[in-house]
Amino acid sequence: IGSFTSDWALSQYGLFGMPVFIAFLAYTVVRFKMFNVKMVGAAALVFSLWGLVFSLLFLETNFTAQLIVVMTLVLVSFFGVMLIRSVRQEVKRREEIAQLAKTLEYANIRLQELDKQKTEFLSIASHQLRTPLSILKGYIELIKDGGYGKVTKGTVEVLNNMDESNEHLIKMVDDFLNISRLEQGRTKYVFADFDITHLIDGIVFELKKKAEDKNLVLEWLQKEPFHLVGDEEKIRHVIFNFVDNAAKYTNEGTIKVAIEKSDNGLKVTVRDHGFGFDKIDEANFFQKFYRGENVKGTNVTGTGLGLFVCKKFIEAHGGKVWAHSPGLGQGSEFGLWLPLIPTKPAETKI
Ligand SMILES: Nc1ncnc2c1ncn2[C@@H]1O[C@H](COP(=O)(O)OP(=O)(O)O)[C@@H](O)[C@H]1O
Ligand SMILES: [Mg+2]
Repeated sequence: IGSFTSDWALSQYGLFGMPVFIAFLAYTVVRFKMFNVKMVGAAALVFSLWGLVFSLLFLETNFTAQLIVVMTLVLVSFFGVMLIRSVRQEVKRREEIAQLAKTLEYANIRLQELDKQKTEFLSIASHQLRTPLSILKGYIELIKDGGYGKVTKGTVEVLNNMDESNEHLIKMVDDFLNISRLEQGRTKYVFADFDITHLIDGIVFELKKKAEDKNLVLEWLQKEPFHLVGDEEKIRHVIFNFVDNAAKYTNEGTIKVAIEKSDNGLKVTVRDHGFGFDKIDEANFFQKFYRGENVKGTNVTGTGLGLFVCKKFIEAHGGKVWAHSPGLGQGSEFGLWLPLIPTKPAETKI
């Protein structure tokens, strides 16, 4: 009879097991809103353990054993709840991370789109600005040359100021145009043989007045022609910017422009006794829109675009650029190195 009783008790597992399991499944799905395998697994483990221990209560007749079973039940309940909680927390955290990743991905796409729109806007705006500025330039020249009647000395002075401001604007718009071309991968390079000595002669001639107006000496001693292959217009733009910056960020002393053969290439350096800079600036000068800590608090204006464009132009020739300074207030050297024969123009898209 004893064996019959225990068999009967055991058979109850099969009889009630199925509905209990289905009820449990329904509960977890409703409770956790979705069929999360981890969650259901943890719950199943706890519930079945609990069920098994609970059933021992009916199988045990000994009071002490029953007491132990009840204590075990309490423990199983306690740890079971802890386990389910921690699993639930983990699942929740994962869901949050996944959600976050999705949001970030979306934000990234949106940013790329905005960046593209910004470049397009820059491109359109700059093109629209460039034409009227050129027209203004033409008229200023015409008036100065007496094309609209005799002009007094005072008027010429005003016209010169107008011309200077206009030229400043043209340079700025050109920088914007260069940036938008670079960012859209539309920069065209025309490679040909040219004499860099002659090129720098022209730059020094053009900037000499600006330097002298500030009592600066512009020194350029090279006389021998030196031939290179590259995009003359782009190289001119870079060296012009270096010398222009040197004049802009120097209050006294000499600005030395020099070239030197080095490593199967040519080094061009522009040294000044101007503002100088610290390490933090050195690392950032060639970045877009970066203006140095060294110019903060001064009234020298600029856009921080010049050197960025320079770097891109030189890199497209397979060359490199650098900026060195012993420290703030101790002058600086801006330089570039170009291979004698440029490597294939680099990808200009940023
Ligand atoms: N010769 C120089 N001496 C000291 N600082 C310089 C010199 N040339 C450039 N810089 C620094 O590099 C920064 C970036 O130069 P650039 O890209 O030409 O922009 P901008 O001249 O419009 O400020 C400048 O703001 C300035 O801080
Ligand atoms: Mg500049």
